[in-house]
Amino acid sequence: MRKLKLVVGIGGASGAPYARRLLEHLTERDDVEPAVVFSVNGRQIWAQEVGTDPRSYGFPIYGHKDFQAPFASGSAGYRTMVVLPCSASGMARIAQGVSDDLLGRAAEVVLKEQGKLILCVRETPLSQVHLRAALLAAEAGAMVMPASPSFYSNPQSMDDLVDTVVARVLDRIGLDNELMERWGSQPAPLRREAGARAPARVASGEDAGPAIAGTISPFGRRGEGS
Ligand SMILES: Cc1cc2nc3c(=O)[nH]c(=O)nc-3n(C[C@H](O)[C@H](O)[C@H](O)COP(=O)(O)O)c2cc1C
Repeated sequence: MRKLKLVVGIGGASGAPYARRLLEHLTERDDVEPAVVFSVNGRQIWAQEVGTDPRSYGFPIYGHKDFQAPFASGSAGYRTMVVLPCSASGMARIAQGVSDDLLGRAAEVVLKEQGKLILCVRETPLSQVHLRAALLAAEAGAMVMPASPSFYSNPQSMDDLVDTVVARVLDRIGLDNELMERWGSQPAPLRREAGARAPARVASGEDAGPAIAGTISPFGRRGEGS
């Protein structure tokens, strides 16, 4: 089986637990060949927010200025990259074609090769500068996918919450996963008593709304004034 060559870029935004979970998940797969690169601040924030040694996952980790890394060139065949988390400034640099570190260069390569680049930006609030950069990145072919956890699956722990983001990232990469339950995988709940907890189920995004009209929405009670 041909493995997917995947660059995992870990940028300087809060959200290193997302990257930790992604790497952890990738150790359980045999269809992916990951290569990892941190930005300088990404490495520092990982130390603050996760604290473990990222080498423990067994994937190659390249230095932030190591332009000898295979994925610094299109010829090495890496066509998929996720930056998780991605700082606003990292997104802006990628959108402008600035590649003064390996993470930026890897992103530039994926864009020029017309591969799949997913930028999981985490910043709030977003200024006009950020919003313009996001549009520019999207126009250049990147997917801007904010690292925004969702709550409709009734997550019970921080890991559950983190998984709501990582599952969707894996989906976009094209990697089947069961990190979260899919909309429609369980019968839709009919009406429940006020105050009852939502069942542990997840609407998988886009078409969650219409499917639950007249029932209890994962986003709240519909049609009952709340
Ligand atoms: C502890 C810490 C947390 C940060 N969190 C964020 C963040 O959530 N989002 C963001 O856009 N920048 C954040 N920054 C700022 C970026 O790290 C900084 O702008 C950096 O230059 C981004 O570039 P990089 O992604 O290449 O590391 C943070 C910085 C530090 C030190």
